[in-house]
Amino acid sequence: MEKEREGMVIPRHVALILDGNGRWAKKRGFPRTMGHKEGCKTVEKTVEIAARMGIEYLTVYGFSTENWKRSAEEVGALMQLFRYYMVRLLKIASANNVRVRMIGDRNRFDKDIIEGINRLESETKENTGLTFVIAVNYGGRDEIVRAVRHLLADYQAGVIQADGITETLLASYLDTADMPDPDLLIRTSGEIRLSNYLLWQLAYTEIYVTDCLWPDFNKEELEKAILAYNKRERRFGGIK
Ligand code: IPE
Ligand code: IPE
Ligand code: MG
Repeated sequence: MEKEREGMVIPRHVALILDGNGRWAKKRGFPRTMGHKEGCKTVEKTVEIAARMGIEYLTVYGFSTENWKRSAEEVGALMQLFRYYMVRLLKIASANNVRVRMIGDRNRFDKDIIEGINRLESETKENTGLTFVIAVNYGGRDEIVRAVRHLLADYQAGVIQADGITETLLASYLDTADMPDPDLLIRTSGEIRLSNYLLWQLAYTEIYVTDCLWPDFNKEELEKAILAYNKRERRFGGIK
């Protein structure tokens, strides 16, 4: 059920494409990695704000399957930030009753990062507040391909039958199994595209794009997005 706060309906699941770290840094004459560092701080703050607002699921796009195309220097810096923030996140999650979950193919990361992800998930799994989902080495198409491979293996093992393949069954093979679809997608920095994010799950999600660069995102920006969401009329293909 959606919650109400100060007369506003709070979306149960907010998905975020946090874009614009590079542009934020460039504007200030800093290296791109400075933008990523600031962006990580904004992620921390956003988790706390979302937890307090009573949002149930917050899913952020941290690193896409296409982001490996960036320079070795930038990818390396992102991995280092990831290592550092995984440790911080454990503290923030514990302090705010947040459950952390990662989606995407973690197998491509270094062993210590994989262990860090596993630890973050297992140590926060009993928390009952916000579920904070981080999409890393995530691509919507890659997720669907991995789901189909897994489904086919179960078919070959006789676990499922061809006529049992439904939307619900396929969704249960995705990384987001058991999660509701996002109600609201927010993309920062003005680009109006999905960039391979949650392709299956966003089928009926309301989309909000702001020009605000990700490191500048704050509580007011989130409230503006939720206010815009409240003015939308969701029809899901029906007639109101
Ligand atoms: C988003 O910021 C963070 C990641 C994709 C890792 P960008 O790095 O894409 O920033 P811009 O789009 O170049 O400004
Ligand atoms: C999307 O941003 C991916 C993440 C935010 C992690 P990009 O900056 O990679 O997307 P494009 O290249 O502008 O589509
Ligand atoms: Mg970008």
